[in-house]
Amino acid sequence: MNNNSTILRVIDLYKSYKMGKSGSLHVLKGINLQVREGEIIAIVGPSGVGKSTLLHLIGGLDWPTKGRVEIDGRDMFRYDNEKLSELRNQTVGFVFQFHHLLPEFTALENVMMPGLIGRLDSKQLKKRCLTLLEEVGLTDRLNHRPGELSGGEQQRLAVARALTNSPRLLLADEPSGNLDVHTANSLHRLLWQLNKKHNQTLIIVTHNKELAEQADKIIELYDGNIKNYTRNH
Ligand SMILES: Nc1ncnc2c1ncn2[C@@H]1O[C@H](COP(=O)(O)OP(=O)(O)OP(=O)(O)O)[C@@H](O)[C@H]1O
Ligand SMILES: [Mg+2]
Repeated sequence: MNNNSTILRVIDLYKSYKMGKSGSLHVLKGINLQVREGEIIAIVGPSGVGKSTLLHLIGGLDWPTKGRVEIDGRDMFRYDNEKLSELRNQTVGFVFQFHHLLPEFTALENVMMPGLIGRLDSKQLKKRCLTLLEEVGLTDRLNHRPGELSGGEQQRLAVARALTNSPRLLLADEPSGNLDVHTANSLHRLLWQLNKKHNQTLIIVTHNKELAEQADKIIELYDGNIKNYTRNH
């Protein structure tokens, strides 16, 4: 049982894409969701059902057609683009399926990047990033560029980067989708440890059934809505 306060509320969320003259593709059709601080939520469902779309909306990376996303009671889409990206930078960390690391920068620089537009001075920022890189086991790879890291190392680097600004909410979109089972498992262990250690809320999209069962709750999407809502513990 989790007695923490609500960190995220998704209210009647719709997302449609305009498709030329032929009309619209209705992907999300009124999603409602409430997440408490420190919870781990798995989002599952078939390919194309709208899992990434939902995660992007929660993270303020895209605009809904209708509905609200509230983080800490703040309606994220009431703000203009600039304020929205500031709030996103402060509260949300994103781990993408394909990591989106900056190829021309080193591991340490990649992790420092989100902090450069944040609040820390550069000395504090560097210290924090070195700690994060230690947490994800990359202390020996600080000066490697992403192309010089293995797939698993790149994903761990992406996790460290998502944590730079101590986000309360960590969003991970199939972070281990293109890793072997062993590497995927150690990445999952890392995400679970980080959740316990920092009481970070984790929302993870996954096709991995075993992993989803380790989350506190599983949200199953189907045809634009939540088909099943399972509480594991
Ligand atoms: N920018 C866009 N314009 C038009 N249609 C889009 C756009 N982005 C996504 N879609 C469509 O919306 C649907 C949902 O896409 P989404 O990426 O959210 O699926 P998903 O559940 O994450 O799938 P997967 O498991 O394959 O990653 C898909 O049918 C996709 O083709
Ligand atoms: Mg997806």
